[in-house]
Amino acid sequence: MTDAASVRWRRWLEEWAIPLELMEAVPDSPYGWSPELWKRRAQVAREQGSQTPTSDIIRSLLPASGTLLDVGAGTGRASLVHAAEGYSLTAVEKNPDLAEGFRQRATEQGVSAELVEGAWPDIAGSVDRHDVAMCAHVVYDVADIEPFLSALARHARVGVVVELTPGHPWSDLLPYYRALHRLERPHGPTYADFVEVVEEVCEASPHVETWTRPGQVWFESWDEILDHYGKRLVLPRSRWSELRELLVPETKDDTGRLYVGSRDRTIVTVWWHREE
Ligand SMILES: C[S@@+](CC[C@H](N)C(=O)[O-])C[C@H]1O[C@@H](n2cnc3c(N)ncnc32)[C@H](O)[C@@H]1O
Repeated sequence: MTDAASVRWRRWLEEWAIPLELMEAVPDSPYGWSPELWKRRAQVAREQGSQTPTSDIIRSLLPASGTLLDVGAGTGRASLVHAAEGYSLTAVEKNPDLAEGFRQRATEQGVSAELVEGAWPDIAGSVDRHDVAMCAHVVYDVADIEPFLSALARHARVGVVVELTPGHPWSDLLPYYRALHRLERPHGPTYADFVEVVEEVCEASPHVETWTRPGQVWFESWDEILDHYGKRLVLPRSRWSELRELLVPETKDDTGRLYVGSRDRTIVTVWWHREE
């Protein structure tokens, strides 16, 4: 008998854990974002505008004056636009710094939105049902996907929309982990595994739309590149020159903006109607 899709999902994500001996050799967490890079990324997202396949699908599902729930909203990159369009938005965010960023962005944009601070699905009981439930770039962080997703679907009357990358967001680091640490990284999960989880947990046959947009991360200097990738790759500073050698062929300078890797980013939107 094959394992359930949600069990496979958890196993893949557990395999992404970074070995303790690597973590203990460096001072910084590999998981953080420098506030400067995050701000710059949000700025690029704003410049790229609010018309994406995901936002179009959300608009097509929302009734007039409808309600939208965004779980793992971050600073509201994917959902504040809909509050600005007049829909009623509730954001759920577990990280206090990002929740504060969400408040600031909502204030800057002059839109009102309800913010529930806490981890989903723990706080799902205090959140009402909405017309549409969305979740963007969160699911690869969620090993316990079954309760997370079933609570998300239960909170949607009309439809559920999930945006994610085709593979785990750290898949691009695979060759560098291999070169620098002789460490193999998992090849999954992918969006196809997520679709199987949806079929299993929500008993739905979701639509899948794949699209591309320009990347949103660029660097001002090699110091910034090495700081970002050195931390992601749990590499002691004494080895950052080896990292630079590996990254030079992948890095392009576009009028002062340094880009590492492919300039285009592939995104997948998985969505389905609720039938209750
Ligand atoms: C990569 S960010 C994406 C933010 C935003 N959705 C976007 O697309 O820009 C993932 C966000 O999900 C939040 N998050 C992850 N797991 C969560 C959970 N179980 N409950 C609430 N927030 C969660 C994180 O704190 C983070 O802000």
